[in-house]
Amino acid sequence: MPKKIAVLPGDGIGPEIVAEALKVLNFINADMSLGLNFETALVGGAAYDAFGTPLPQQTLNLCKNADAVLLGAVGGPKWEPLAHAIRPERGLLGIRSELNLFSNLRPAILYPQLVHASTLKPEVVAGLDLMIVRELTGGIYFGQPRGIHVAESGEKVGLNTEIYSESEIRRIAHSAFRIAQKRRKKLCSVDKANVLEVTELWRNVMAEVGKDYPDVQLSHMYVDNAAMQLVRAPKQFDVIVTTNMFGDVLSDIAAMLTGSIGMLPSASLDANAKGMYEPIHGSAPDIAGQGIANPLATILSVAMMLRYTFNQPEAAERIEAAVNSALDSNVRTADIYSAGTTQVSTAEMGNAVLKALQG
Ligand code: NAI
Ligand code: MG
Repeated sequence: MPKKIAVLPGDGIGPEIVAEALKVLNFINADMSLGLNFETALVGGAAYDAFGTPLPQQTLNLCKNADAVLLGAVGGPKWEPLAHAIRPERGLLGIRSELNLFSNLRPAILYPQLVHASTLKPEVVAGLDLMIVRELTGGIYFGQPRGIHVAESGEKVGLNTEIYSESEIRRIAHSAFRIAQKRRKKLCSVDKANVLEVTELWRNVMAEVGKDYPDVQLSHMYVDNAAMQLVRAPKQFDVIVTTNMFGDVLSDIAAMLTGSIGMLPSASLDANAKGMYEPIHGSAPDIAGQGIANPLATILSVAMMLRYTFNQPEAAERIEAAVNSALDSNVRTADIYSAGTTQVSTAEMGNAVLKALQG
């Protein structure tokens, strides 16, 4: 059976960066006979303009029938006046929930060539390579009851509910342990078990699932301490697993340790490692159409796809090494430019990676 990838370029810089990622993917697909097929569809604002909805049924069907989804980015000022239900972002949320993508992988890797892009001291961040696994479909962002009500006293009260079932915790635990097995076999589960019972259960289930993975060293940390440790000494971490809300905050802290939004990929997986892969950044309307966006986050998302969905670690490593070589050759898009390097376009950066792969 040929493997199928749904390609959703989206809006803004999305089509520009996805085009470069496809150059790389096409090359590695042919070179290593991976047998991957592609089909492109509209999502987000582009889909709204064509069909009046950010997630047309044919796009959703394509994603459901594919093994993986490669997404650029969605959104932009043009669609901001639209009602929430038909905004471009709804296209992404729809795919996440329809495909049950509960495990969000956010690596933070600092390439040695870009050590000065970080606002932290080089000795703190040099060599940084950590992965945050965020639970994506449960917790306080979805819990009921929720809302703003008028209490009996006449005062307004706001309310949200943090709920995690044992099965929800267990499946994200398995996902995180399996990822840790593919890395340095260290997993830190972040919670607030001293104050929140829901995360006391989280901690207990993590420990229980950990018995199935004796090769992975499991530790636990409170979220306030984890926030401090991420900034103080981030290299102590390999894989961090945490709840939806804690992961939202910690993954953004981790991303900024590297200082470069154009370099960071992500994955969102289901229980069978089917997934959606996308850069963490948005559609960057301020630079769209200029051919200057950094395509490396999207190219690195392709490497994650090959590693996690298609179980092709060698192909993934080849792409990551090619990105490294491209940076070694001193070419930089504007977002990572520094004195003494050569500024290049989106396409030239893609070509530099391709050349390194062919090399
Ligand atoms: P953004 O990530 O699009 O841009 C933030 C800043 O980073 C901008 O100055 C942009 O030029 C720069 N930037 C982002 N990616 C870059 C790249 N690859 N190379 C060079 N520079 C890059 O976030 P912003 O401006 O808050 O949102 C813009 C639009 O994107 C909004 O409509 C927002 O809703 C949407 N968005 C979509 C996401 C997605 O599709 N997953 C995620 C975040 C925002
Ligand atoms: Mg966030």
